[in-house]
This record gives sequence, C-alpha cells and structure tokens, in this order.
Amino acid sequence: MNTIKIERHNRVVTVRLHRPHVLNALSGELMTELLDALRPLDADPEVGCFVVTGSEKVFAAGADIREMSGKSAVDMAAEDYFAGWEEFASFRTPRIAAVNGYALGGGCELVMMCDLVIAGESAVFGQPEIKLGVIPGIGGTQRLTRLVGRAKAMDLILTGRTMDAHEAERSGLVSRVVPDDRVLPTATEAAATVAAYGTPAVRAARECVDRALETGLTEGTLFERRVFHALFATEDQKEGMSAFLEKREPNFRGC
Ligand code: HXC
Repeated sequence: MNTIKIERHNRVVTVRLHRPHVLNALSGELMTELLDALRPLDADPEVGCFVVTGSEKVFAAGADIREMSGKSAVDMAAEDYFAGWEEFASFRTPRIAAVNGYALGGGCELVMMCDLVIAGESAVFGQPEIKLGVIPGIGGTQRLTRLVGRAKAMDLILTGRTMDAHEAERSGLVSRVVPDDRVLPTATEAAATVAAYGTPAVRAARECVDRALETGLTEGTLFERRVFHALFATEDQKEGMSAFLEKREPNFRGC
C-alpha cells in the first residue's frame, strides 16, 4: 500500500493516511487502498472499531487538487468521482477520527463520515472549496449542515474560512478536544472501549443515531424501539443484564 498504513491491536484497527508530500491529499489511489483494506475488516467479527488518523501535523488537506484539476465535467460524471467514499460511510464498524492539524475539504468530509471525532488543540476544520471555484463534493454541504446547522455551514462553505478545534467542538463537529499529543491515545482508548461492547448493540446504536439525521422524530423513535426490542434476542443482552445483577464484568460475545 502506497498511501495508507494499517495497524491492528486486538479488536481495534488504526488506519493512517500517508501521503506526507501533499498533506495527505485524498487521491483516487488512497480511496481505493483505504476501501480495499477496510472492506474485509468491516466484515470481520473480530474487528470492533476503526481509528482513522493522519500525521501529527495534518489529518488531510482535502481531495487531491492536482489529480482533479485537468478533468472535464464528462470525466467527473463518467467516473462518478468521489462516489466511492459513500462505501466508507456505509461501513458498519464504528470509526473514530483522530485529528491533528488540517482537516480541510475532503479531509473534513472524511471526518464527518466518522462516528466520534477526537481533535487536538491544533486541529483546523473547513470547507475551502469555494476558493477553488467548486463546492464540497464528498457530502460536505449535506453532512456539515446536518451536524452544525445552516448558519454555521453557510458561513464555512460560502466564505471558506476555517474553524479551530474549540469552535468545531462548540458547533457539534467534534466530540472531544484534547492536547495534541493525546489525540491518538484518546482515540485508541475510546476505540478499545467501543470494541469491547457487544457488536449487535454497538451497530444498533450507530444505526439509530444516524437515523436521527434521516427521519422525523415519530419514525425515528419507533425505529429505535423496534431495534431495542430486537436486541432482546441477543445473548449479549442476557449477559449484560445478568452481569449487572451478579455484580461482575460482562463478557460480550457479539451474538
Ligand atoms: C493536492 C496539496 C493539497 C491538496 C496541499 N497540497 N493540499 N496537493 N491537493 N488538497 C500540496 C501543496 O501543493 C504542496 O505541494 C504541499 O502539499 C504542501 O502544501 P503547502 O500549501 O505548501 O503547505 P502550507 O503552506 O503549510 O499550507 C497548508 C494548507 C494548503 C493551508 C493546507 O496546502 C492548502 O490550502 N491546501 C488546499 C486546501 C484545500 O483547498 N482543500 C480542498 C480541496 S478540494 P508542493 O509540491 O508545492 O510542495 C476538496 C473537495 C473538492 O477537498 C470537491 C470538488 C468536487
């Protein structure tokens, strides 16, 4: 693999974006390598969480401008450029973005496809595509608006300004801000915590939370309740509740 590095520790898989000469710009090759690497891991019951990170200096400075710059509208449509990233969004394994430095354009959009976002004090978020004569193209106009609201999304997308980690946390884009050198350890600890819970409940929780962005309250609460009922068919539910009553740690088996 040329553009990413993968490490696995027990149930946690860490993916490091690695194109340092272009600030981890998200090229087609990077997307393909990332999806090819994560696809089998997403299907592996022994994997409980992904951590996606960049370097200590940059998460990703966006889609690869050099790669895109010469393409025509016909090329873009024929390739359905960026459509592949939706596969990342549809993976069922929870994922945590660990962000140091720039998360711009496609980098910010990749962050928004993650479930938790741990940001360092130095992190910088933005959708500066307007400065290139285009708009966000990997879901930025849609996900940012849902996550931070129309007023803030319009501000970022129309002016191209960036926001720091604290503003991003206040706005609802970031889960936690930590010192820069604590980003990866914090993300990894959170990933290990999530990965130790029962897979059926973790997957159900993610799907229900994300459903809130897709549907109305009545439909959403009904969906949640039905999923909640269904979890009573799992051994993990019996184990979790028995362990509580027996004052011991649960041993979830993901079934
Ligand atoms: C390709 C990139 C790049 C990118 C940086 N580089 N970002 N190459 N695609 N997105 C390259 C630079 O050309 C440069 O290469 C090297 O990385 C270092 O970058 P510098 O600009 O010299 O670094 P610095 O001065 O520290 O500035 C950092 C930065 C700036 C503020 C992050 O690089 C920047 O503004 N980058 C572009 C950010 C952006 O516009 N992102 C959105 C992309 S569009 P050389 O060879 O000169 O050393 C997108 C979705 C588009 O994501 C959707 C359209 C359909």
